[in-house]
Amino acid sequence: MDFSIKPIEAKTGLAAVKTGCLAVGVFEDKKLTAAAKELDRKGAVTAALKSGDITGKAGSTLLLRGLDGVAAERVLLVGLGNDASVSEKNFLSAAQAAARAFSNLGASDGAIAFPFEEIKNRDVSSAVRGAVLAIRDANYRFDQTKSKKDPEKGGVKKVAFLTSAGAAAAAKTAVAQASAVANGIALTKDLGNLPSNICTPTYLAGVAKKLAKDFKFGVEVLDRKQIEALKMGSFLSVTKGSDEPPKFIVIKYNGGKPKDAPIVLVGKGITFDTGGISIKPSASMDEMKYDMCGAASVLGTFRALGELGLKLNVVGVIPTCENMPSGRASKPGDVVTSMSGQTIEILNTDAEGRLILCDALTYVERFKPAVVVDIATLTGACVTALGHHNTGLFTRHDEAHDALAEELLAAGKATGDTAWRMPIEDAYQEQLKSNFADMANIGGPPGGSITAACFLERYTKKYTWAHLDIAGTAWKSGAAKGATGRPVPLLTTFLINRANGK
Ligand code: BES
Ligand code: MN
Ligand code: ZN
Repeated sequence: MDFSIKPIEAKTGLAAVKTGCLAVGVFEDKKLTAAAKELDRKGAVTAALKSGDITGKAGSTLLLRGLDGVAAERVLLVGLGNDASVSEKNFLSAAQAAARAFSNLGASDGAIAFPFEEIKNRDVSSAVRGAVLAIRDANYRFDQTKSKKDPEKGGVKKVAFLTSAGAAAAAKTAVAQASAVANGIALTKDLGNLPSNICTPTYLAGVAKKLAKDFKFGVEVLDRKQIEALKMGSFLSVTKGSDEPPKFIVIKYNGGKPKDAPIVLVGKGITFDTGGISIKPSASMDEMKYDMCGAASVLGTFRALGELGLKLNVVGVIPTCENMPSGRASKPGDVVTSMSGQTIEILNTDAEGRLILCDALTYVERFKPAVVVDIATLTGACVTALGHHNTGLFTRHDEAHDALAEELLAAGKATGDTAWRMPIEDAYQEQLKSNFADMANIGGPPGGSITAACFLERYTKKYTWAHLDIAGTAWKSGAAKGATGRPVPLLTTFLINRANGK
């Protein structure tokens, strides 16, 4: 999909715009947007609303052809709901509805003249960004693993957003930014949706190398021997039961000055989580192919970084392996020594995410990071706590960390990729006591997502750190099963804001 911005010529207006299909908004109370009014030369739009052919409900659509005095071949009326100041939700469902209608047309180019300047809580840039992401989301298909590929669909391939001349420059930047983010989201979705027999640790390393080549990133992939040399005893305890070789991926974007402290993103890359010896029940176990979505979101964010040209330094770190049962697998009660020197009693081999992350979190100390954010499908308990709407956000509670939390929450809010802050407190830390090691890897059922975060906290004392538990937000189950690409919008917006000094 190719997006562009076209300023509307004041003299000739919308009626003169030549396009295969021109989408304009209408409201529920049979009112027209200014754009729809311009096309209502002979009353055809008003008549369509009056007839009840379109309700104006957010996301309803009606296609009209051959309107008198209108240069566009088709006009698509799209419902924006009942509020003249359009809500974000209604605006995004209208954009998605336009995308769906566009994809079924005989035309190859379309234009959208929504009231981008009148969306609640969004300026023109953020409205355009939202529309690009909504349209790309509506057009996403995953058919890599089907023998018959979805036939290359006809429909609109080029979309122009029609804005006022004054808003055009800002809208152009917004389109470029959102397209980069959409490419990142698509990569994250693809990697998540790939099955574990294809998307192995070696495969993820290959994707990182390819990204590095395409966008001139630095990249380093450590193999088992190098991981052993680093004394990552905790990470190694998880990969032990698997025949698939583990990888430790380090990828670097250097857009800032060499001296600028980097932002470090650490992604959990369990390419399949059986639970190990503490094996999971079979029902829905297939979904544990998504246990590398943290890693995929780091790679997706780098895919976006490749096009964004931000002036900052970012390091991505991905510990990746499988969690399998076998004669060589770790067993409950085993005690291992992490890279930090702290010992861990593995009371449950299914609490493996924290075991690979803790060594990665120690490893990243060497970068003297400005901040470290880890992203992980870490706990089912986070899904219980927050459902599928919000990512769990955990940081310590002091001034620096409160500020970081606010930045991440705001970045999520601005893109509809929201997070909700959870506590980290000493009272929860006590649940990790072990009789045989410095800590246990589980804290019992109460507050499971919090004790998991508390475990990670013990490895992050040397820098400012936040943890995102994306177990509830990284993918959807049921009929719509598939990766969501979250939290790439949150992460990229966070980085864009940082680069802009906001
Ligand atoms: N990858 C899972 C977390 C998960 C489970 C995400 C279900 C999404 C849906 C993680 O490795 C895990 O198994 N966590 C355990 C921890 C428990 C053993 C303390 C869990 O959540 O049950
Ligand atoms: Mn697990
Ligand atoms: Zn897991």
